[in-house]
Amino acid sequence: MADTTGTDRFDALAREWDLAPHHVRRTTDIADLLNERIPLAGMSALEVGAGTGLLSFALAGRLSRVVASDPSQGMVDILEDKIRQSGIGNIASLRCGDDLDGVDGPFDLVLLQMALHHVPDPRAFLGRAAGKIRQGGWIAVADLDTEDGSFHGPDVADIHFGFKRSEIVEWFALAGFEPISIETVHTMSRQGPQGSREYPIFLATARKR
Ligand SMILES: C[S@@+](CC[C@H](N)C(=O)[O-])C[C@H]1O[C@@H](n2cnc3c(N)ncnc32)[C@H](O)[C@@H]1O
Repeated sequence: MADTTGTDRFDALAREWDLAPHHVRRTTDIADLLNERIPLAGMSALEVGAGTGLLSFALAGRLSRVVASDPSQGMVDILEDKIRQSGIGNIASLRCGDDLDGVDGPFDLVLLQMALHHVPDPRAFLGRAAGKIRQGGWIAVADLDTEDGSFHGPDVADIHFGFKRSEIVEWFALAGFEPISIETVHTMSRQGPQGSREYPIFLATARKR
């Protein structure tokens, strides 16, 4: 049986990832709102769980440099192909997970798009992320609001079924970030046995004290 946990699943999805219009649409909405909320020009950034780097590519034109990291070798392979083919010089790839092993810093900004729900201990991770951000720097997390598990379906294990916005606010504050803005940035629709379901995605942004 295929491994539906961890990074094997993403290794298998990597090649087709950018062909899914909903992956591109949500990235566009998240990048647009990030542009409004954070003064990105000239910032250095680390993206965690970057996958094929959709968000890093969308923001690279404004950033000074971005390190796009992911634990899936399949995702990193595609990301590196894209970097080579694009000729864009300020995106670097790094194979690493939420332990952030091998990540330098500090960065002006740490970004996650649809990755926090794969992190086993999100609260502890946000503390580690804070350690990679300079004082006054930013964190931005886009992820699912609490859902009933139907977003990934019964075959995918080891995920959080979205997050309560109140817990994100609490974890950000505990990790040393404030003030915190959290708002709906995009809504994904998925077809299930009972028809179409909507899954709102929030964008939380804050500065390190
Ligand atoms: C839903 S995909 C999102 C990819 C990309 N951010 C995007 O929006 O297109 C989740 C990504 O998180 C990565 N991931 C899984 N477990 C992780 C972990 N513990 N820490 C960091 N990233 C993880 C996966 O390899 C995958 O690329």
